[in-house]
Amino acid sequence: ALISLRQMLDHAAEYGYGVPAFNVNNLEQTRAIMEAARETNSPVIMQASAGARKYAGAPFLRHMILAAIEEFPEIPVVMHQDHGTSPAICQRSMQLGFSSVMMDGSLLEDGKTPAEYDYNVDVTRRVVEMAHACGVSVEGELGCLGSLETGQAGEEDGVGAAGILSHDQMLTDPEEAADFVAKTGVDALAIACGTSHGAYKFTRPPTGDILAIDRIKAIHARIPDTHLVMHGSSSVPQDWLAIINEFGGEIPETYGVPVEQIAEGIKYGVRKVNIDTDLRLASTGAIRRFLAQNPSEFDPRKYLQETIKEMKAICIARYEAFGTAGNA
Ligand code: G3H
Ligand code: 13P
Ligand code: ZN
Repeated sequence: ALISLRQMLDHAAEYGYGVPAFNVNNLEQTRAIMEAARETNSPVIMQASAGARKYAGAPFLRHMILAAIEEFPEIPVVMHQDHGTSPAICQRSMQLGFSSVMMDGSLLEDGKTPAEYDYNVDVTRRVVEMAHACGVSVEGELGCLGSLETGQAGEEDGVGAAGILSHDQMLTDPEEAADFVAKTGVDALAIACGTSHGAYKFTRPPTGDILAIDRIKAIHARIPDTHLVMHGSSSVPQDWLAIINEFGGEIPETYGVPVEQIAEGIKYGVRKVNIDTDLRLASTGAIRRFLAQNPSEFDPRKYLQETIKEMKAICIARYEAFGTAGNA
């Protein structure tokens, strides 16, 4: 059944677990997530980004998620819009039937330029007003996402857009978070705590506390009723990098957020954990390996089936590690 983010995360908070929010663009990702959820009895958050809407089209995404709900009726599903850059975009998603939207007012409408605090408050407050009038949940974002190691906002190509930032600039301020929540009424808040988007988060194997766990604790203490969201939570599995490179890929050395560190964050208030890159890596590795080992095969279902199998394995591992399993 389709439920709101607030409903799902209230349950997660009560029972102390986190829910991975996987990005979906195609049938294979959708199936992998749902089959993994069924096998582990987990609730599901599927999110569609602007890139997904450009690739598949909003109606296809919507109907794909509705199809998943029809085929897996026992699984609670949140249909979430990832990184909305304006109230108009969020409004369109609500119209389409999304049960949750993210208004990312930490950036201007171009999705790149860091925005002023007052702008963020204004656009987010407007979205909350619309959304709550029709039972839709809202995720806001406060802070500048970026790797504490490199001081850069993660970008798909490994080059930060915002340039080098100081340690403190890269973490969400707990007092500002309290003010933001009071002024906007968001259900969930994406915070900057040391993660960044994409595959290039850390250049060295992350040891110890790569995340600012103390900052997560401090934010959670100030806004205990607002669910914290961790973006850029892919772990960048080293075995998938090796497979991709073994079969013709060229991905340089890079590291993600260890699953145990995310589990630590979940202990202190993180409830929604955004993952896209890990499924991309597994899917690309599965296709490269299959085609290299089966050079005469040309039925796309054969190699796409491999992507479902490998993405599903990652989903199952995350459902188990985050305590999501058993809570559908
Ligand atoms: O936040 C970014 C997500 O990984 C989605 O990226 O816009 O390329 O689909 P995308
Ligand atoms: P990753 O790039 O780490 O998978 O993060 C995805 C994300 O935060 C989507 O909003
Ligand atoms: Zn994100």
